[in-house]
Amino acid sequence: MQCISKITALRELVTEWRNAGQSIALVPTMGNLHSGHLALVERAQEAADRTIVSIFVNPTQFVAGEDYKEYPRTFDEDIEKLSTWRTDLVFHPEVEEVYPKGLHGKTCVTVPELDNFLCGAFRPGHFAGVATVVTKLFNIVQPDIAIFGEKDYQQLLVIRQLVTDLCFPVDVIGVPTIREEDGLALSSRNEYLSANERKAALLLYRTLMGIADAIDKDERDFITLEQQATESLIKAGFRPDYVKICNADNLGKPGTGDMVVLAAAWLGKARLIDNVIIRR
Ligand code: PAF
Repeated sequence: MQCISKITALRELVTEWRNAGQSIALVPTMGNLHSGHLALVERAQEAADRTIVSIFVNPTQFVAGEDYKEYPRTFDEDIEKLSTWRTDLVFHPEVEEVYPKGLHGKTCVTVPELDNFLCGAFRPGHFAGVATVVTKLFNIVQPDIAIFGEKDYQQLLVIRQLVTDLCFPVDVIGVPTIREEDGLALSSRNEYLSANERKAALLLYRTLMGIADAIDKDERDFITLEQQATESLIKAGFRPDYVKICNADNLGKPGTGDMVVLAAAWLGKARLIDNVIIRR
């Protein structure tokens, strides 16, 4: 496994692989790798000849007052994991390599249809940061395939939309959320939970599953379902940002097609997000 921090060195290696007729999958991450990331790497290995994992804690997707400085950075452990996960290349650039002219007032990518509601309303600018860094990574690596987790459902749709709008020849693959035994979605931010909060956290997934179950049984009063779920989360000590039932393709109003129930809620210092997809 090679570890590269410079764009020129990465491009040389990728060109060699391309000249040898090999396809390339990119798994963008912010490090602090767990079994959720392993599922992404395994999917990349199925889909392409070469797997590149990027590790980059992207400053522009953290909104003022968020946890950019505290975000868990575990580079040595990540490298150890990736070498046992049979990754071909780890790209771990410094901030200056990705943003050579600084962070602010530069070209940035926005996906207006999808970036200013749900998480976008509570984290203004977050999805522009994600869309910009993913665009940069796509331009740097030029992968055939890119792998993202369905846990960040709105992010996945933002990335699919930017790939369509900017004509990237990249096939975006979403991978189902990996969960702890009790249902809690794996996330780096779970580390912020105290032991008691960790016990309470499983209620988020249970609540979403409860809504999905009611919809399966033909309940269609979505507003009441969302309100009841919000109230039960508050009773359990959460501070919900939203619980919302949406059309799974575009996060608009739910209709007769696939739906997705999404939630974001604070528990102590951790902002947890999760979703359940309801296929029709
Ligand atoms: O999902 C993440 O870890 C990040 O948002 C991503 C896609 C790596 C962009 O920084």
